[in-house]
Amino acid sequence: MDFNLTEEHIMIRDAARDFARTELLPGVIERDNKQEFPKEQIKKMGALGFLGMMVDPKYGGSGLDTISYILAMEEISKIDASASVVMSVNNSLVCWGLEHFGNEEQKQKYLTKLATGESLGAFCLSEPEAGSDATSQKTTAIEHDDYYLLNGTKNWITNGSTADFYLVIAQTHIEKEHKGINAFIVEKNWKGFDIGPKEDKLGIRGSDTHSLQFNDVKVPKENRIGADGFGFKFAMKTLAGGRIGIAAQALGIASGAYELALKYSQERKTFGTAICNHQAIAFKLVDMATQIEAARHLCMKAAWEKDQNMDYTVSGAMAKLYASQVAMDTTIEAVQVHGGNGFVKDYHVERLMRDAKITQIYEGTSEIQKIIISRRLIGTK
Ligand code: CAA
Repeated sequence: MDFNLTEEHIMIRDAARDFARTELLPGVIERDNKQEFPKEQIKKMGALGFLGMMVDPKYGGSGLDTISYILAMEEISKIDASASVVMSVNNSLVCWGLEHFGNEEQKQKYLTKLATGESLGAFCLSEPEAGSDATSQKTTAIEHDDYYLLNGTKNWITNGSTADFYLVIAQTHIEKEHKGINAFIVEKNWKGFDIGPKEDKLGIRGSDTHSLQFNDVKVPKENRIGADGFGFKFAMKTLAGGRIGIAAQALGIASGAYELALKYSQERKTFGTAICNHQAIAFKLVDMATQIEAARHLCMKAAWEKDQNMDYTVSGAMAKLYASQVAMDTTIEAVQVHGGNGFVKDYHVERLMRDAKITQIYEGTSEIQKIIISRRLIGTK
């Protein structure tokens, strides 16, 4: 077993770290306050290859492995989780889904633009009444001659107004239940497609979250992904990998908060010494560092399994379940280590604490991850 990173991995991690510090750190507090999307920064991430990291270079991607993606996600998330969710959705839901299940025409038309960051993508599964219970899709895509007519509402969509292309899951054959669901590529400017107001969120406030309405949107048949009825499997297979990305986001939020807490504890003095010399603080740092290391191993194992073409559904779910809990615990403790300053925006840790919460909710709540893992343990799936 070799725990060493390759030279290429180290180079990618360091490039992501430099980018996060020089391009994302300035203005991150202001963007959070104003709920401002990091538009210029995301453009630069695209130019550097961070938005299509695992995509084959023949479609404009960087052709890297999942380990590289995880390393970059951690570094970007340490500084700006609003930017890293854009990166995660574009890479592991939209690009990965299209590359693996789209046809050649779809890849040439859409993936080439998404992988370079020229265009952004969104993944539209959740609905007002279908979040965790994802098979209960109410959005319909009814077949006509050479098109489908799309009607319904999607909720909490990341990149809701900034995306150019949307992967939309909808029910075509209600009687077939989840086997009647399809996935489609929908373009932003199509008639009948409306974007609701931006959600005012607790965390990842720089990211762009909206509901979407489809009113008789005509989707050409060639924009269906895969065979008729493949849509739910498409969503599940894609999300299984997406969860590794969110696990790495949670890991980054935790390690960012830990690094700030460690530095602060070495500088801040009470009772005549740096606070890290008090066991009360030192032991908090130990717990944070140990849990972060465990979360990192789970993320790496899931990424490695994906790169080996093994089944990573359970390892990805475990990584997300654990890393998101570590993100919550670590950021709360990082605020505590900072004392009064932790409650103040300038010190970053309160934002990381707010950002951490969503990692226990999106791409499957912690409770959903437990359902996925427990079914495998018990042997019912
Ligand atoms: N790979 C392949 N197929 C899968 C699969 C996987 N990982 N998981 C399930 N399936 C298949 C099953 O095999 C089954 O197919 P068959 O009937 O052919 O056997 C079908 O999907 C239905 O599966 P279940 O019977 O297990 O369905 P269920 O109703 O019990 O629910 C669930 C399964 C795992 C709970 C699922 O509903 C789920 O994942 N829910 C959470 C949804 C979610 O993650 N939403 C996140 C929204 S996206 C987002 O947040 C993006 C963003 O913007 C950040």
